[in-house]
Amino acid sequence: MIKIIILVFCFFTTIVSSQSNQNICSVYTCNSTGCFETPKCPQTSNKCFVTSCDTQTGQCIDTPIPNPYETKCVISTCNPLNGFFSVVPVLCKDRSDECLVGNGCDISVGCLYQPQFTCSNKSDQCLNVIGCDPKLGCQYESKCNSVYKCSLYSCSLTGNGCIKTPKCPQTSNKCLTSSCDAQTGQCIYTPVQLPPSNNICSNYSCNPSTGLFTPTPINCPDRSNECLINTGCDAKLGGCHYKSS
Ligand SMILES: *[C@@H]1O[C@H](CO)[C@@H](O)[C@H](O)[C@H]1NC(C)=O
Ligand SMILES: *[C@@H]1O[C@H](CO)[C@@H](O)[C@H](O)[C@H]1NC(C)=O
Ligand SMILES: *[C@@H]1O[C@H](CO)[C@@H](O)[C@H](O)[C@H]1NC(C)=O
Repeated sequence: MIKIIILVFCFFTTIVSSQSNQNICSVYTCNSTGCFETPKCPQTSNKCFVTSCDTQTGQCIDTPIPNPYETKCVISTCNPLNGFFSVVPVLCKDRSDECLVGNGCDISVGCLYQPQFTCSNKSDQCLNVIGCDPKLGCQYESKCNSVYKCSLYSCSLTGNGCIKTPKCPQTSNKCLTSSCDAQTGQCIYTPVQLPPSNNICSNYSCNPSTGLFTPTPINCPDRSNECLINTGCDAKLGGCHYKSS
């Protein structure tokens, strides 16, 4: 009886020890025919991966198949059905907003850029290029800025450049002369001076549309309350002349 128990015990320890020698990457199944070993990690149906088994941990690992086209200048994608790659070139993005202009593609670096020095020429709008600001883009300044306070500058869109016009042009009133204060840029209008005249018996007034002075005979004031009779104006006698009544 003891012999049988020992035999049975030996039989079981043999099975247990043979199982501990099993391959960690195999699956064992037994049926009435016997025991069969099958791989634990069969090849995945996705042809873009190769399935393998880690002999240390028994973990299944899907490793991407090598991509013969992989560079930084193409986008290649693997078709899971056949493991073939399709390839399209990388589209380098427009970075002119950052003052950069495209300079081709390097297979190990990717899209290349260089600083953009070619801000568009706007000289027809009287603008000079200052440079390119990475945040603001191309910067321009007006060619028509002037330090002269008595001139106005504007841009001719016909390409003639800056046009200078006086800030204080002559007004339509020809009895006023216009001038400009160079310090302040203020317009000054001064009445045209009465031309020197020896005709003290005329009063001169300026006509705004012609700027000409026209004489009007002066009216000698009545001085009858001083018992003086007005005899009119006589330039030689010194203006208004009176005699006693
Ligand atoms: C036992 O398993 C093996 C492998 O899976 C199989 O080929 C065989 O037909 C099976 N036998 C029976 C009797 O089920
Ligand atoms: C810009 O264009 C004008 C004529 O349109 C030309 O005279 C000028 O040289 C150009 N400037 C630059 C920087 O290309
Ligand atoms: C001349 O004309 C001005 C303005 O009309 C008037 O104020 C002035 O009294 C006149 N002088 C004489 C001498 O008539």
